[in-house]
Amino acid sequence: MLYTKDILDESNPKLRQISKEVTFPLTKEDRDTIDLMIQYLHDSQIEELSEKYQLRPGMGLSAIQLGIAKRYFVVVYELSSPEDKEKEFETYILINPKIISNSMEQIYVEEGEGCLSVNRPVEGIVPRYARVTMEAYDLDGNKIHVRAREDLSVCFQHELDHLNGILFIDHIDPKNIYKGKDQMRAI
Ligand code: NI
Repeated sequence: MLYTKDILDESNPKLRQISKEVTFPLTKEDRDTIDLMIQYLHDSQIEELSEKYQLRPGMGLSAIQLGIAKRYFVVVYELSSPEDKEKEFETYILINPKIISNSMEQIYVEEGEGCLSVNRPVEGIVPRYARVTMEAYDLDGNKIHVRAREDLSVCFQHELDHLNGILFIDHIDPKNIYKGKDQMRAI
């Protein structure tokens, strides 16, 4: 099982590495790591489990956040609404991902983006494409195309940044943390 303490903090220079392309077939270690990442993200979004195991909630995690400099990330995206009895999730595993198309429209998360490696509230605008299509590989090495919009699109771009050593805080202009606000839509 993965715990919050296993996730590297923003002060760790490893997070600044550029992760390397993955070759197929995947190693057993990478498959096991991906399983653990999915489990963490899932459990962290279930209140009783996140409390029981002290898991800081998150929807996305990149391998480099565990110190593994390989180009893959996992997203466990909640589909259910608050009135649903049981939470439902969609799981995305993207290996060697890249953006192959994006909207002109840009958005930002009004309450600020979160990151399991940034353990503090950060205000300011992080510009993201409202919609992206990513090309990636699945666990078996098949090429896949995944389309995302709104918060899922933000999440994919946030995770792709991790693979390039970029944290969301890097996108915020320290001279004017609300720079570009009028050119973008808040979500
Ligand atoms: Ni992050």
